[in-house]
Amino acid sequence: MTIFTKSLLTCCLTACSVLQLQAADLPIKITKRYLNLPVSQAQQRSNMKFTVCGKKEREFKIRLASGEPEYWVFCDVSNLKGKTVTISYEGDNAGLSKIYQDDKIAGQDSMYHEKNRPQFHFTTRRGWINDPNGMIFYEGEYHLFYQYNPYEREWENMSWGHAVSKDMIHWQELPVALSPDDMGTMFSGSAVIDYNNTAGFNKGKTPAMIATYTVDGHGKQVQCMAYSLDKGRTWTKYKGNPLIDSKEKWNSQDTRDPRVFWYAPGKHWVMALNERDGHSIYNSTNLKDWTYQSHTTGFWECPDLFELPVDGDKSKTKWVMYGASNTYMIGSFDGKKFTPESGKHYFSTGTIYAAQTFTNIPDNDGRRIQIGWGRLSHPGMPFNGIMLLPTELTLKTTKNGVRLFSTPIKETEQLFEKVGQWTNLKEAAANDQLKAYNNNNNNDRLRIKTTIKLSHATSAGLNLFGQRIIDYDMNYNTINSVFYSPDDMTSMELSADIYIDRTSIEVFIDNGAYSYSMQRKPDAKNTEGFHFWGNNIDVKNLEVYTVKSIWE
Ligand code: FRU
Repeated sequence: MTIFTKSLLTCCLTACSVLQLQAADLPIKITKRYLNLPVSQAQQRSNMKFTVCGKKEREFKIRLASGEPEYWVFCDVSNLKGKTVTISYEGDNAGLSKIYQDDKIAGQDSMYHEKNRPQFHFTTRRGWINDPNGMIFYEGEYHLFYQYNPYEREWENMSWGHAVSKDMIHWQELPVALSPDDMGTMFSGSAVIDYNNTAGFNKGKTPAMIATYTVDGHGKQVQCMAYSLDKGRTWTKYKGNPLIDSKEKWNSQDTRDPRVFWYAPGKHWVMALNERDGHSIYNSTNLKDWTYQSHTTGFWECPDLFELPVDGDKSKTKWVMYGASNTYMIGSFDGKKFTPESGKHYFSTGTIYAAQTFTNIPDNDGRRIQIGWGRLSHPGMPFNGIMLLPTELTLKTTKNGVRLFSTPIKETEQLFEKVGQWTNLKEAAANDQLKAYNNNNNNDRLRIKTTIKLSHATSAGLNLFGQRIIDYDMNYNTINSVFYSPDDMTSMELSADIYIDRTSIEVFIDNGAYSYSMQRKPDAKNTEGFHFWGNNIDVKNLEVYTVKSIWE
């Protein structure tokens, strides 16, 4: 034992012996990687505190199950190995005695094979996720941080969860990146790589990954930063936080979700920040000191702002600004001010919310890749929320002007194997072909591509066990109640690329001109399975693909 660890131990023993243990407090000497905690949604939420050597190590809200646990959550305590953690709980603490440590998460053996676990979308092992945060590519890894409650499948204890991937398809979940602190909880934000050491956190040749995020606490929302020198694995919060505190200026508590990027022409950083009624632009040269520049009203939460070539022509670009709903404006941007030219438009609806695009994608790739949070749940599961398929965003000229298109990235192709293709079928014949996929053993995940041709300007579509995957109404010009008019407005055809997972359905219409997502909700009494319907429609094309699980 080194002198250092020995003196630390002595300090611990002294500190702990003077600490007044409450009768119900639970001291655990950490020897394993995880603490498993029992949860019941029927229980009230109360504060749980971990104390080490008399100092608060963490504090969070949890519905600690006093009776039979509904499910288990966990926390990684590998950094506390050898130390004694005293756990106290302000609520009904009958469940404290059920807490146990293990090198395995409770339920590890069935992880990713649970009945309602999505098979080709990212979900967290346990807990709640919402907005994607800090999406960035760095040294061969795509980082997906996200709003995360590790301790319950509902929203609370906002932290930044973290997962990495080499292809944006297969993800590995890592320990929590940012946890709540005395300032408050960790709300949404973004990440950059500070190649030029503008903030001064770089070490030797290693540039800092810098996250800018909102802290929600003490009745306001302020903007803060943290940096990582080990590829996002561990983070140091900046001592000079907060960077921006603008509650007074806006007479509003709603100032959040900084979206930071490098603006090369002006050689400075840009932050798009939602403040009360729209997105503000701030500038900085060091990521610490920010100067307000301008404001575009009409947006709520989660800004994104980026430049895209029109029809692939790099000499002709436009800027896109959107908020949490994904409705967007197209315009120009000079580093200080976004000038809208058209909008608002929409390209994706349904469960999608708070989508963000990756930063630092290499120039020779050049794609603008988006991931959105799918606001949907998984019945009976100890986790909530989903990340929708990553899609590439492009700007294309349409009859209405320039519009955003969104299609699943090419990396998704590795998941699919075509098992059938038919052309020019009548509706009944198409339904016959799909009969093979109407049993629950093989339709829990599928991709279906189809083009239908209507014979009347009424409605037609495709159902799955009574759920309307496509409901195309040519009279009202709606798809599933949202206005849609194809580029050729006299066209009687519609093409759809449909991605069906255990709990979600995503549909991309006419090569990504419009897309939508929904929770998968089969009508339990319906035995029809896949079912094309309409007034004498033709199924001009039908393709069925099986889908590999990303967890195998
Ligand atoms: C959007 C949002 C953000 C906020 C975060 C909190 O879903 O409300 O504006 O930062 O969620 O979890």
